[in-house]
Amino acid sequence: MNPSPASPTPSSTFRFHARDERDTRRLGAALARVLPAGATVGLIGTLGAGKTRLVQAIAAACGIPPEHVLSPTFVLCQPYEGARTLYHLDAYRLNDDDEFLELGPEEYFESDGLTLIEWSDRVANCLPPERIDIRIAVAGEQARDFEIVAWGASYRSVPERLAAATREADGGVE
Ligand SMILES: Nc1ncnc2c1ncn2[C@@H]1O[C@H](COP(=O)(O)OP(=O)(O)O)[C@@H](O)[C@H]1O
Ligand SMILES: [Mg+2]
Repeated sequence: MNPSPASPTPSSTFRFHARDERDTRRLGAALARVLPAGATVGLIGTLGAGKTRLVQAIAAACGIPPEHVLSPTFVLCQPYEGARTLYHLDAYRLNDDDEFLELGPEEYFESDGLTLIEWSDRVANCLPPERIDIRIAVAGEQARDFEIVAWGASYRSVPERLAAATREADGGVE
């Protein structure tokens, strides 16, 4: 899972098993607290894996009503303002890298908000080499396995901090 062959950035990993959607919300709250300003997050997993649910969980922890967060399949990029600014993108319907680049993603990557990209594996060549990748695997009707990989020195401590934050009770961004 190297982001690009030309940039062997160091990585660290945190694995999280969600028994149900409540656990997924706990992971989302932990991400909302731990992700540094300006982080770019790729969300990878099949249809129904839980990519949008995880974005909803991050939004909820930022005080954004989660029901406002839908797969941005038609809008392609949806901004949300809360305790943190979220840019929610979805590459599912894009035909190629150029269509993604036409959305002007650099503006989001360089902003202080969190950029969350569903189906990021479809536009892997267009992503910053330093980022977080979250791979979601269906492990049962309610169960999901999350693999969170931090690429690059500035994100190296994220997995360890997530491990600590997910052990704590549900909570929003202070
Ligand atoms: N632990 C869980 N975490 C996330 N979603 C779950 C979980 N268990 C069941 N689900 C269900 O899986 C589906 C995930 O949908 P969604 O987040 O829209 O997927 P994606 O955006 O990856 O296509 C929802 O119907 C949700 O209710
Ligand atoms: Mg989705």
